[in-house]
Amino acid sequence: MSSIKRILVSDPNPEYKKIITRIFDANTYTVDFALTGQEVQAFCHKKEYQIIILDLATQDHSAFTVLKYLKSMHPSLKIFFTIPDKKNLSERSLNEKDIMNAGANNIIYKPYNVQSLLSILSKEFHPSLNASTSPSESEKVGKELKIKDDLFTKIKIDEFFSGSSCIFDLFARLKKDHYVKMLEKGNYFDSKRITEFIKDKKIDYFYFLTKERNAYIVLMNKIIEKSISMPQIPIENKIKNIKNISEKILEEIHAVGLKNDLVEEGKKLCQQIHELVSKEKELYKTLSLFKEISYSCYYHSFLVSFLATLICKQLEWGANSTIINIILGGMLHDIGKLKLKMNILVTPPWKLDSAQFEIYKNHPIIGVKLLEKFPIISNEISQIVLQHHETINRKGFPNGIGGAKLYLPAQIIGFVDTIANLMINNQVEVKKAFALFIEKKENTELYDGKIIAAFYKCLT
Ligand SMILES: [Fe+2]
Ligand SMILES: [Fe+2]
Repeated sequence: MSSIKRILVSDPNPEYKKIITRIFDANTYTVDFALTGQEVQAFCHKKEYQIIILDLATQDHSAFTVLKYLKSMHPSLKIFFTIPDKKNLSERSLNEKDIMNAGANNIIYKPYNVQSLLSILSKEFHPSLNASTSPSESEKVGKELKIKDDLFTKIKIDEFFSGSSCIFDLFARLKKDHYVKMLEKGNYFDSKRITEFIKDKKIDYFYFLTKERNAYIVLMNKIIEKSISMPQIPIENKIKNIKNISEKILEEIHAVGLKNDLVEEGKKLCQQIHELVSKEKELYKTLSLFKEISYSCYYHSFLVSFLATLICKQLEWGANSTIINIILGGMLHDIGKLKLKMNILVTPPWKLDSAQFEIYKNHPIIGVKLLEKFPIISNEISQIVLQHHETINRKGFPNGIGGAKLYLPAQIIGFVDTIANLMINNQVEVKKAFALFIEKKENTELYDGKIIAAFYKCLT
């Protein structure tokens, strides 16, 4: 296998092309150069890259548009942001945190320091070279540690419920690559000490090692299960926690692939979503909480399962197992996209050429094949995954089935998938997304009228 690494550099200044070409050794790196955001997309159509170096001044599409899109469609792609200087950031009312929060993996200031750029790249491509920066068992609570940022997953402090004891190490970040362990695996949560530390260091997030994400998922699922029936916990917090853990489950699936225990945890979470929605009297109140709309594909899947749960409640379907299947089907509906090539993933479906669209149309079939080996996945879930892009007018894909053959739960997921996409692509709340849907008369011919009517009732 070739060890040459493929990098795409985007910079509006053509002079940088010469600089870039001089920096990279052709034996180690293959570099392409884009002048605009549109060119970045065009290159991604043709080739697969490991790293994209994106300049803040990129135009047509802007660097942020490109960044958000690439991160949402291909979360594991490394994106480095280049910036002339800090002044340039403040002129745009931005700071480094905004860029990192939008999904960048690193920020590099211009002009490039050749050695430091190459060293950053070599660390990205060969993380084992930084073994000395990995944490060891002997690390003590409270001691400052040098650990690479990339090894961590962050959790917003106000979204974190403390259990009686922690089943993974919990860290606070002091600065780039510097952490302090707040709580050791198996120890009790000392809220007084931690509250003082948060106040003192002005931190908003806790961190845990990404390799322990599975333990985090199991713990949070247990905490969510307990908290659902506790009226003193506001519904906003319950939804935030469910959203957070649902995204972590999908992140883990993207990172390590589908595994039995992950699917089991996903199913447990679906039961909690169902519990929460069944207890809620005013459904619209829960929907009005969806104000921060993220571009992430994990958020998309969570939104689809949550909106589908509301429709199930509105339709007053009795069978618990059917509802759980629909919620889990919503969470996993796009799982087949895991196997699509990046150039197809990063392009909105309506911008794909006909050959690419033919490949994209296979994601429901690929999804069913991926799920086939899991006994926990029922035939109902497989049908939802297979049919979520089919429509009753037989103009959907992959099989163009419709009419009576079209499984109603798959139509529910197909309909809320469209609503979720309208919310995310237009960055609008749910009522506006529904108005956009209904505005086009042909949309109402895609799904059973009782689904659309049930959703309308949820909004009033
Ligand atoms: Fe899909
Ligand atoms: Fe989808």
